[in-house]
Amino acid sequence: MDLVWLLCIFVLFFEELSLGWSKPDADADAVTIGAIFTFSTINGKVAQIAMKAAENDVNADPTFLGGRKLSISMHDSNFSGFLGIIGALQFMETDTVAIIGPQSSGTAHILSHLANELQVPMLSFTALDPMLSPLQYPYFIQTAPSDLFQMIAVADIISFYGWREVVTIYSDDDHNRNGVTVLGDQLAERLCKITYKAVLPPDPTVTENDVRAELEKVQQMESRVIVLHAYTKTGLLVFNVAKRLGMMESGYVWFTTTWLSSILDSNSSLVATSIQGVLALRLHTPDSKRKADFSARWNSLSNGTIGLNPYGLYAYDTVWMIARAVKMFLDQGNNVSFSNDTKLNNVGGGALNLEALSIFDGGKQLLSSVLQTNMNGLTGPIKFNPDRSLVHPSYDVINVLENGYRQIGYWSNYSGLSIVPPEELYAKPPNRSSSNQHLNSVIWPGGTSNKPRGWVFPNNGKQLRIGVPRRVGYRDFVEQVNGTDIVHGYCIDVFLAAIKLLPYAVPHKFVLFGNGHENPSYNELVNMVAADVFDAAVGDIAIVTNRTKIVDFTQPYIESGLVVVAPVRNMNSSPWAFLRPFTPLMWAVTGVFFLIVGVVVWILEHRINDEFRGSPRKQVMTILWFSFSTMFFAHRENTVSTLGRMVLIIWLFVVLIINSSYTASLTSILTVQQLSSPIRGIDSLIISNSPIGFQVGSFAENYMVEELNIPKSRLIKLGSPEEYASALETGRVAAVVDEQPYIDLFLSNHCKFSIRGQEFTKSGWGFAFPRDSPLAVDMSTALLTLSENGELQKIHNRWLSKRACQNSGAESDQLHLQSFWGLFLICGVSCVIALLIYLFFILRKFKRHSQQASEPSSHGSSSSARLQTFLTFADMKEDKSRSKSKRKRNNDLMNGGRNSNLPGMDPIC
Ligand code: SER
Repeated sequence: MDLVWLLCIFVLFFEELSLGWSKPDADADAVTIGAIFTFSTINGKVAQIAMKAAENDVNADPTFLGGRKLSISMHDSNFSGFLGIIGALQFMETDTVAIIGPQSSGTAHILSHLANELQVPMLSFTALDPMLSPLQYPYFIQTAPSDLFQMIAVADIISFYGWREVVTIYSDDDHNRNGVTVLGDQLAERLCKITYKAVLPPDPTVTENDVRAELEKVQQMESRVIVLHAYTKTGLLVFNVAKRLGMMESGYVWFTTTWLSSILDSNSSLVATSIQGVLALRLHTPDSKRKADFSARWNSLSNGTIGLNPYGLYAYDTVWMIARAVKMFLDQGNNVSFSNDTKLNNVGGGALNLEALSIFDGGKQLLSSVLQTNMNGLTGPIKFNPDRSLVHPSYDVINVLENGYRQIGYWSNYSGLSIVPPEELYAKPPNRSSSNQHLNSVIWPGGTSNKPRGWVFPNNGKQLRIGVPRRVGYRDFVEQVNGTDIVHGYCIDVFLAAIKLLPYAVPHKFVLFGNGHENPSYNELVNMVAADVFDAAVGDIAIVTNRTKIVDFTQPYIESGLVVVAPVRNMNSSPWAFLRPFTPLMWAVTGVFFLIVGVVVWILEHRINDEFRGSPRKQVMTILWFSFSTMFFAHRENTVSTLGRMVLIIWLFVVLIINSSYTASLTSILTVQQLSSPIRGIDSLIISNSPIGFQVGSFAENYMVEELNIPKSRLIKLGSPEEYASALETGRVAAVVDEQPYIDLFLSNHCKFSIRGQEFTKSGWGFAFPRDSPLAVDMSTALLTLSENGELQKIHNRWLSKRACQNSGAESDQLHLQSFWGLFLICGVSCVIALLIYLFFILRKFKRHSQQASEPSSHGSSSSARLQTFLTFADMKEDKSRSKSKRKRNNDLMNGGRNSNLPGMDPIC
């Protein structure tokens, strides 16, 4: 504030001394209004003509201001804020009741302080900086919609077309800078953003080199959506240079604010270069007879020097706005009077003519009359909201063609984008829903009607550098082909299939990451995308929180959560498995009971049952045979005593139960795999304090340390499925924690292990792109398409289809010799022992028989003849009853003279 006053004082002093400035004479009957514009600009020219026409129209009715005339005094600020201030000070000295202008927002910021102090309303339809706050500058009124709405409209259009990133080019002055700031806010509300701001020197000083330097930077950007907010000179220069740099070609999207439509309306010949395809805003004014009549008059008003643009209509209406307010002011009995500003008395004027700056006594009333405006002007109904914004701000959306432009729709603050004029919508309830937003088709730069993608790969045609992990284990996922730079695998195939679905080519090359001796750190790989070393990372990369903080992932293309794997023990592998159903004690008690029952039954039967009688040896054999044969219900001996039968039936029942239990237990031992480790899931693993294996490079390590608080010393890194197997088998680790896809593959080749518990994290694998990369969004869509059309599953089957566990499957249910050779051994040994005993006895018998027979022919016979005799002897059936009494019968036979060659044996024939 103080600075502004000092500047004003300096100006007054300067004018007094150097310019010989003096008060213009004021016409006593006139109500004077000042206007400050740069006459040589398009809007300055148009405004001058329109304001003059309005002045004439107001004065055409002498009674309108009660016989007083409206006099508009014009001041050319000639692109200079300084001259604008001089003009304003001049007006303040000449009993000016209001000022129209200034043209630029920068000057408006300064002059508003003057207007505030001297209470002279200042109305501008071109200084539309959204930051010219009515609270800070109560005497400054924007009589055309603030650029806030223009920026909302641009943001709505960008969001309507689905673009997310925007580059802005603007002149570094209050108006354009503040406009772009507001645009940034509006874009952010729509989840879009300005990715680069190309700042040019202020309009009067900008050079072609400045523009070229900035545009070359813009060319390097990813975004191809450019918003150009500037004044005429800068705007046209930007297009000239852009054309030369090939930036008006297809692929680019250009938006301009209203400066371009003003040129096209007023002097399209200034557009020396083809800017076909540009979208621009234009202040919307509803069609009306008054507007049509004024447009028809325009040629004569302007002598054909310049075309009418909407700012001309606003200029005309602004004059009428003041005229009406003055009328209201006068009608209320107020006088136009000025008084000294007492503040200036203390400043100490010296040679300055400070008293000349007087306060407009009726300024407050006039301001209030202006704000009460409610009229139908050339621009349509004019009324101010309580916050001093105009009701129903709206714009035409135009598409620049080779010859002129074409309107493709409208934007209104009421209903957003529409293809019907906003005034037709005001009668309906407002509807800004996205489904209610419409624009007609557009011819974009390059003459195409296909909506540009809005972005390109940032390095302009160079191949994308895609980092892929140089895996050592689980190479089905990503594998380097024999030391070449070619990679293949499940993840690569998914990536290639997805990229094929994109509607544009993505030149890329895979860059292997890792030393080739062990799997690389996947966190580092992702970091390298964030650090711009790679443009993307493709592979079996888990989407986990700390990674999503620095890069954008695509949709997951496979599920992957962490699981625990531990060994299983197959108990059927033991040759003594048949003993396992019972404990040794059970075996012993069972055996003893067999004997007890045998003895008890023998006691009970002995006296009445012949089968339990005989020689002591025979009776011991009977007890043993009887008791053990009940095991198979195969006892031959009848029990005849009631007690004996009772004991037997109860025993048989016991045997039945023991048999069934043995069978059931043996079946389960032989067929069901038993868990050999106490690990039942992640919880029991954590409390077990045993070493845990994890895949080197995987996020699992960090997860276990940071999330599960497992001490790092318990973690053992493993590199390959083979290492998993050996670490688990040797007990180096109690369990391995890794993601499901790896474990599925591991288990399909290793049957001695199984997953314990549930997946304890839910995650997936995706491809990593730099933050806000539009390619990530398109790739996600492509991955969803692959998933929906079944292609993803086919790729999965091709690389990862579960192979049956090599030692399991149908075969795993079969029992092996290994489980039974103990039984066969027992049986075999008993057979051999029995045979040996038999051989021993038969040889003894044969020897006796040979001695008894004492045949002369057998003496001295050959050993083959002896063997034959032995075989014949062994082949003969022994008559047991006769054998038992052989000695007796031999004696009888010898005594009875009856001869026999082989006593005790029946001859074979
Ligand atoms: N999939 C793991 C990760 O992303 C690597 O094995 O960390």
